[in-house]
Amino acid sequence: MILPIYTYGQPVLKKETEEIDKDYPQLKELIDNMFETMEKSDGVGLAAPQVGLSIRLVVIGLDCLSDEHPEYKDFNKAFINPYIEEYGTETDGYEEGCLSFPGIHEKVVRPTKVRVSYLDQDFNEHDEWIDGFLARVIQHEVDHLDQTCFVDRLSPLRKQMVKGKLKNLHDGKFYCDYKVKPLKK
Ligand code: NI
Repeated sequence: MILPIYTYGQPVLKKETEEIDKDYPQLKELIDNMFETMEKSDGVGLAAPQVGLSIRLVVIGLDCLSDEHPEYKDFNKAFINPYIEEYGTETDGYEEGCLSFPGIHEKVVRPTKVRVSYLDQDFNEHDEWIDGFLARVIQHEVDHLDQTCFVDRLSPLRKQMVKGKLKNLHDGKFYCDYKVKPLKK
């Protein structure tokens, strides 16, 4: 089932998230729905607050990059209760977008490597260093669990440049070709 994506201005994007356990109701169904929602909107990642849920759950799908990055062939992974434990010292900049911010694409500087702890879908514990494109996507998604959106990471100047677009998103004055739940219609 495709879920509507909450867009900029929706309070849930700025609400504290809670960890989940095995008893979370219909977790498998929720994860399947999040994957379906992400794929239908051509996203590479989706965090639970973007579908209105204040829980620490993220899905990432990188198969669409597998032509250039064969290591991401069939990469579809749910991360439960993920945390960035450590950051590498090197950084780089890359243009990011976000399904909750249709029409906005901006360069964001982030560490190229991160150590992440999380549970997989079978609730096995992991703690590993991640690099490459996945490191960027997971930082973007875990940010969502910590009430941070990619525009919060822009320089004051760039933030000023997207102010008008943000206002339009906030006011529901935008178009996108996937199902959304804006603050105002
Ligand atoms: Ni996002």
